[in-house]
Amino acid sequence: MFKFDHLAIQTDDIENTVRWYKDFFHCEENWKLTEFSDLTLQRLPSITKLVELQTGNFKIHIFDINSDNCVVPATAVQYQHFCIEISEINQLEELKTCWLNLYESGLYKFKRHEKATDIVTDKDGISSFYCYDINGLEFEVMYKPQPKKT
Ligand SMILES: [Fe+2]
Repeated sequence: MFKFDHLAIQTDDIENTVRWYKDFFHCEENWKLTEFSDLTLQRLPSITKLVELQTGNFKIHIFDINSDNCVVPATAVQYQHFCIEISEINQLEELKTCWLNLYESGLYKFKRHEKATDIVTDKDGISSFYCYDINGLEFEVMYKPQPKKT
């Protein structure tokens, strides 16, 4: 068996990104790193800082990358979306409101100017909405009703 440990996100705006993940996903900061192995420097030549954040038992690594010296072009799609499951249906509305408040606060520079979507429910009763982080990475926030106990 295995478990997913962390998701790594590269950004040319690390301070803003760390703050947004703390404000939106309630992440805590575990540690920071400013010295890297030869392998890391070979893979990511412009890295100068890495911050590990954690929410629940899931970790997110945020590292800086100079957009002039980017291994992966800043415009490349890194993944289509990453889904977070929430345990209470009312958290969908709460998180969507939180996203909109952060978007409209003026504290963040968002690379994409598309607001969080409406909350939709599919025929199986799964409700979700989609939103972007400040770098333009897409997240789904999803609520799945638990089967009734018999
Ligand atoms: Fe999905």
